Amino acid sequence: MELQFTRHRRLRQSANMRALVRETFVRVEDFIYPIFVIEGTNIKNEISSMPGVYQYSLDRLSEEMDEVVSLGIKSVLLFGIPSEKDECGSGAYHDHGIVQEATRFIKERYKDIIVIADTCLCEYTSHGHCGVIEKDQVLNDPSLELLTQTAVSQASAGADIIAPSNMMDGFVAAIRKGLDEAGFENVPIMSYAVKYASAFYGPFRDAADSTPQFGDRKAYQMDPANRLEAFREAESDVKEGADFLIVKPGMPYLDIVRDVKDRFNLPIVTYNVSGEFSMVKAAAANGWIDEKAVVMEMLTGMKRAGANLIITYHAKDAARWLSEQ
Ligand code: PBG
Repeated sequence: MELQFTRHRRLRQSANMRALVRETFVRVEDFIYPIFVIEGTNIKNEISSMPGVYQYSLDRLSEEMDEVVSLGIKSVLLFGIPSEKDECGSGAYHDHGIVQEATRFIKERYKDIIVIADTCLCEYTSHGHCGVIEKDQVLNDPSLELLTQTAVSQASAGADIIAPSNMMDGFVAAIRKGLDEAGFENVPIMSYAVKYASAFYGPFRDAADSTPQFGDRKAYQMDPANRLEAFREAESDVKEGADFLIVKPGMPYLDIVRDVKDRFNLPIVTYNVSGEFSMVKAAAANGWIDEKAVVMEMLTGMKRAGANLIITYHAKDAARWLSEQ
């Protein structure tokens, strides 16, 4: 009997044929580049677990920003490291806090760049948790007040988008109300709607100096085993007025990216987090993988899974590779 089969390889014969049928594209406009700004002067500290990623003081931030702009990256996500921390994270909502000052700096000199302010307390609290603590518990509602103050002060400094990452219940509702009352009804919220309690955040906590001093974040961040819970989280954030939904981390959660993309009609963002970045860098430094090919394959996979935007520490490298094509 004659063999019956389909010749899929017809469409893979040459580079041009493959380009003709390609379904997913990664563009520099898809990237959001995280930047760590630190109080102090003349600081450019490399994060040992994140080669090529630095903490910058304001007076050296233009070194980073000039490069970002020249590579065509349009959006940055700011994280702040204050010189002093306290119980209630007051550096987060101080009008002259480090993120507020960095935002003013960038919006004055690079006015078309979209500045996204991460809204959380963990980099600013002495205990390293994302909210107010009482008897070793993170209190939900009192934390909302401080997070709202943080968001309003970031918007006042000129932030284009507010990105709350704290995982308190009701943070989108509280922040939306606070922004609207302060006259910032046009400032969108990019909600870390689906954020898992992940071991992949390890290197970030070195970079942001935000490791919890006791316990862990499992009473507010999600259990990696849960999928239905991701729908509940995304649903409430949509109801509360989120403009973007973030799924975080990226690589081990691309099923969730697809699920959320299929159910909700907002732009979906995936956060290709620090631990994912460090693994690639470590393997590449050992010569075990081809860094460029692996990074582009990962970013393509995130887009294919349904992410419209990718927060990634690989953004500068990937932008360079894309421009060389
Ligand atoms: C703050 C925050 C974290 C990350 C982004 N915002 C750390 C955490 O929740 O512990 C992690 C990002 C990364 O790993 O790259 N809450």
